[in-house]
Amino acid sequence: MVKIAPSLLSADFSRLAEEVKKVEEGGAHWLHFDIMDGHFVPNITMGPQVVSSLRSQSSLFFDVHLMIEKPERYLEAFMRAGADLITVSAEACTHLHRVLQMIRDLGVKAGVALNPATPLSVLEYILSDIDLVLIMSVNPGFGGQKFIPSALPKIRRLKELLGDRPVHIQVDGGISAETAPLVKEAGATVLVAGTAIFGEPDAVAAIKMLKTEKKLV
Ligand code: DX5
Ligand code: ZN
Repeated sequence: MVKIAPSLLSADFSRLAEEVKKVEEGGAHWLHFDIMDGHFVPNITMGPQVVSSLRSQSSLFFDVHLMIEKPERYLEAFMRAGADLITVSAEACTHLHRVLQMIRDLGVKAGVALNPATPLSVLEYILSDIDLVLIMSVNPGFGGQKFIPSALPKIRRLKELLGDRPVHIQVDGGISAETAPLVKEAGATVLVAGTAIFGEPDAVAAIKMLKTEKKLV
């Protein structure tokens, strides 16, 4: 079964604990924290404090997506805050192999995110150092953007590349009732969705919709 990871970026920040409770009770598997620094991406969102304040409120798997420059500076802070998995952007790491080792040395699962233009070849020498690959299906920085179709062949190719390695294929950006079946069919194992869940009047129904196997259109 594909995992659903609601992205807090689209939640009501004035009621975060309630929003988390809603999606947890609604059947979400993971909680996706979009951390942005205003440098790597043109937006600023939240820091370790928000993660730690929600850690005691939820038993969901905390999936921290760092869209920040030099992420190695904050790995320990997010581990202490309660991250179960930390994903760094390949394009933000001069020494990506070392950063992934640092994450694992902290006892946290390690993920690497690829922007839409970044080729899969970046992964060639780190396949045994990762627990997740995040395929960005939008240019990072904002929720509510349009799905970039070139992510589909990229997901299919990644699935081949990984073979039977225990590495999640996570897709993030523009996931909706229309695109979810397509990315699942291509090989995604974790779907991140912000607008399609928190932007809906009934987040629980939205999560159920994303979980359905069949194509909706
Ligand atoms: C964008 C973030 C995504 C985004 C997804 O930089 O990484 O997680 O919040 O939002 P939607 O699902 O609204 O495209
Ligand atoms: Zn994200």
